[in-house]
Amino acid sequence: RSYTVGYFVGSLSSTSINRVLSRALIALAPADLEFVELPIGNLPLYSPDYDADYPPEARALKEAIAGVDAVLFVSPEYNRSIPGALKNAIDWASRPWGQNSFDHVPAAVIGASVGAIGTAVGQQSLRAVLSFCNARQMTSPEAYIQYSPDVFAPDGSVGDDETAEFLRTYMQEFHDHLVRVLTVLPRG
Ligand code: FNR
Repeated sequence: RSYTVGYFVGSLSSTSINRVLSRALIALAPADLEFVELPIGNLPLYSPDYDADYPPEARALKEAIAGVDAVLFVSPEYNRSIPGALKNAIDWASRPWGQNSFDHVPAAVIGASVGAIGTAVGQQSLRAVLSFCNARQMTSPEAYIQYSPDVFAPDGSVGDDETAEFLRTYMQEFHDHLVRVLTVLPRG
């Protein structure tokens, strides 16, 4: 069988390096993984006032997460933490209380920065949030990507063999992780 991965790109930038990274990851992933983006840019700011009646964009997000086998977060680090737009999307998906969309869902985090620590601090912040949301995170390998336009082409092709092999291994490990989790905790 194949598996569907819903992926979040944590950036709203039209020139996002994390979107480029997401293209590279999709291209290098095992053939039995299919990918669907979980868009975050059209969501209003979450308020508990919406809990009784979620707007269509937020319903669509929760339904999309319910329809995938696993989630992948490809996100920049903003001020040593998570971009607000991504946190907003996670907050929407985690609510209303008792209907947390991430409960037991296989998950992985990765991100790219032009800076040398490659979103390491932001990923720790994201991991803390996903822990509370009870996602089943892949804890190893970790992937902190220092982005260079010499390595990543806009279409997601990777010009450096070592980087491509690292990302291929990361996606194979994510594949194996999600299959293991789904064996114990089937979705739906
Ligand atoms: C950044 N950037 C950044 N980089 C980093 O390594 N650590 C950080 O804490 C931050 N903080 C930060 C805050 C804000 C508000 C912005 C706009 C940027 C730089 C960031 O890595 C760079 O802009 C990337 O290009 C962002 O990823 P996307 O949007 O291109 O995917």
